[in-house]
Amino acid sequence: MKTAASFGLLVLAASAQGAAAQQAGDNLTDQQKMGRQVFAQSCGVCHLPPALGARTYGPPLNKDAGGGDDDVMREFITNGTPRMPAFKYYLKPEQIEAIISYVRTVPVQAAAAPARRPGNE
Ligand code: HEC
Repeated sequence: MKTAASFGLLVLAASAQGAAAQQAGDNLTDQQKMGRQVFAQSCGVCHLPPALGARTYGPPLNKDAGGGDDDVMREFITNGTPRMPAFKYYLKPEQIEAIISYVRTVPVQAAAAPARRPGNE
């Protein structure tokens, strides 16, 4: 009897946790989930910090990327810059749209590195 009761509690606790995790991170559409995956694969090497607060080669991307303008973001991704490769032959247009749609869900402060810029005080 006692075992059954604590098992029930465990299940309850586990499912409550699952619900919270889903709300925090997985409240994404299928398109945004695809974008998150392509983003991690193709862009993460320069745009995602390997550790919390680590510096990245490219700027952190969030819903303000490209000044919040999807066209500007699309232009960056399609044609690149002198420091960033172009993705027009590598990604399909729908993958680029998915990335933009995903990045628009990233809150500004989540991607921001700590305000510590050596030599920039
Ligand atoms: C080789 C490293 C590298 C890779 C890979 C890369 N980027 Fe970049 N990205 C940069 C750099 C560096 C900049 C800063 C622009 C510059 O200095 O030319 C940048 C800038 C941007 C900007 C403009 C940000 C802003 O608001 O000014 C966007 C949007 C962007 N990248 C999206 C992407 C996406 C999406 C991918 C993947 C498909 C990607 N990048 C892959 C290096 C990279």
